[in-house]
Formats: sequence, structure tokens, C-alpha cells
Amino acid sequence: MITAIYPGSFDPVTFGHVDVIQRAARIFDRVVVGVVREPHHKTPMFTADERVAFIREAISDLDNVEVDVFAELVVEFARRWDARAIVKGLRVTSDFEWEFQMNQLNRHLAPDIETVFVMASPQVSFVSSSGVKEIAAFGGNVEELVPHAVARRLKEMFPNGRGGAPVSDAE
Ligand code: PNS
Repeated sequence: MITAIYPGSFDPVTFGHVDVIQRAARIFDRVVVGVVREPHHKTPMFTADERVAFIREAISDLDNVEVDVFAELVVEFARRWDARAIVKGLRVTSDFEWEFQMNQLNRHLAPDIETVFVMASPQVSFVSSSGVKEIAAFGGNVEELVPHAVARRLKEMFPNGRGGAPVSDAE
């Protein structure tokens, strides 16, 4: 039984992430999506519980995928789940530079855990969580970029596309 973790902020999950999860789930026996509770150097728009709920709903048809929150190093999270691999998605070359560094650091900390890179499918290679949030904040339509529950929540938060602070308690 080979387990892989797929760590990230998922703030929020996009169809780019879902594509990576689906493809990883075909390679590994079990995939654990790891939602980092407090991403380093950035304050998430969504709570960890919301980010987890969005992912769970988006991958409910995949029975070998689990979702968990973590607050430790990625390699420690991998050990907690007895994972042999870390899955990362790659879109553009600028992703590569950062992920190459992360890969080297993680290899230094845990040489027995391999990082496996999944190249974005062309139809979602331009999708990013930050891009989605920006479009939603200005009232743009993100329904083709993110799972339904995420699009619905963003529409509640930015009913008029204010381009600024979200409505935190929209109905
Ligand atoms: O690009 P993301 O989705 O914000 O990535 C988050 C994460 C945790 C996958 C990325 O920061 C990473 O690979 N970090 C490795 C270093 C580490 O273990 N940090 C602890 C958690 S922030």
C-alpha cells in the first residue's frame, strides 16, 4: 500500500488542484490531501475547516483520497501518514524554481520520501487560487475554475464585486 500526500494551502481548492488529486489517486493506493492550517507568510481567506470542506465535496467520488489538516513540516505530515511520496503540481516555470528548492529542502530532511511532480493539464494550467480570488473580488465569474461550493461561497462573499473586503457573513 503506497501512500502519497498532496500538501498545500488550498485557499481555495481549484479545478487545477482537483486535476492533480484525480491523477495522483490513479497512481497511488492512497492520497492524503494535506491542508496547511497556517500557511507561512500569508493569511488565508478561508478557514482550515472551510478549505477542507470544499476539498471533501470536490473529491467525494474518489474513495482512496483523504483530507487532513496539518500544522507541522510537510515531511513530518508525510511520516504521520506513513507516506512514501509527496505530490506537487507544476504549471509554469516559475513554479519550478520554488518547488525545486522545496524539493531539495525536503530531501535533506527526509531522503527516503520522494517528491513526484504532476504537470498541470493544459485546460487548467492557468488556474491559481490567487487568480480566482482576484476575479471573484471584482465580480468575475469563476464557475469554470473552481468546484461549485467554492464559486457559490465566493459569490456570497463578493456580491457586488467590490474588489475589496469580502462580506464575511453573507447569507
Ligand atoms: O503553495 P502552497 O499551496 O501555499 O504550499 C504550501 C506548502 C506547505 C505545500 C509549501 O509551503 C511547502 O511545500 N512547504 C515546505 C516547507 C514546510 O514543510 N513548511 C511547513 C508548512 S508551511
